[in-house]
Amino acid sequence: MTDTGVELIDRAEATARLPEFVGLLAVALSAQGRARAPYSKFHVGAAILGGSGASFPGCNVESASYGATICAERSAIVGAVAAGETVIRACVVVTPTVDPSSPCGICRQLLAEFGPDVLVFAASSVSDSVYVAALGDLLPLFFGPQNLNGVGPKAAVE
Ligand code: THU
Repeated sequence: MTDTGVELIDRAEATARLPEFVGLLAVALSAQGRARAPYSKFHVGAAILGGSGASFPGCNVESASYGATICAERSAIVGAVAAGETVIRACVVVTPTVDPSSPCGICRQLLAEFGPDVLVFAASSVSDSVYVAALGDLLPLFFGPQNLNGVGPKAAVE
């Protein structure tokens, strides 16, 4: 454990932390194979674990108008919410980097909508390495619904 709350573990340890990890990883790896990334060639897969226990795939979908690109994590969130999930328990993202790549800032911000306890696993499709962290550790003092309610940022991390 580092003082950031981010830990580097392996797939077995990730499964020990969250039994659903194995299934989520399989969903994310399948989705990675369906990524549409003709410009970056960087294929990303994701899986969201909803409050119901169901999992939802996501992949990056790139646009010739580059800014219209959506990341794998956000596409999985959209699928989960569209299916009726109101709670997100975990997000697994898979990248083709030996050292796993964790979600970009925009994806962290959208995950923050579901609270600081969302477990984020950044896995690799080419190594056994996994980073795990709570969303609140990846995006401390995030701007969220609590701010709009006038409660203040401390409430989000307590
Ligand atoms: N990408 C993701 O899907 N998730 C991230 O967290 C970071 C980046 C995608 C966006 C783009 O299609 C490609 O990776 C290269 O940035």
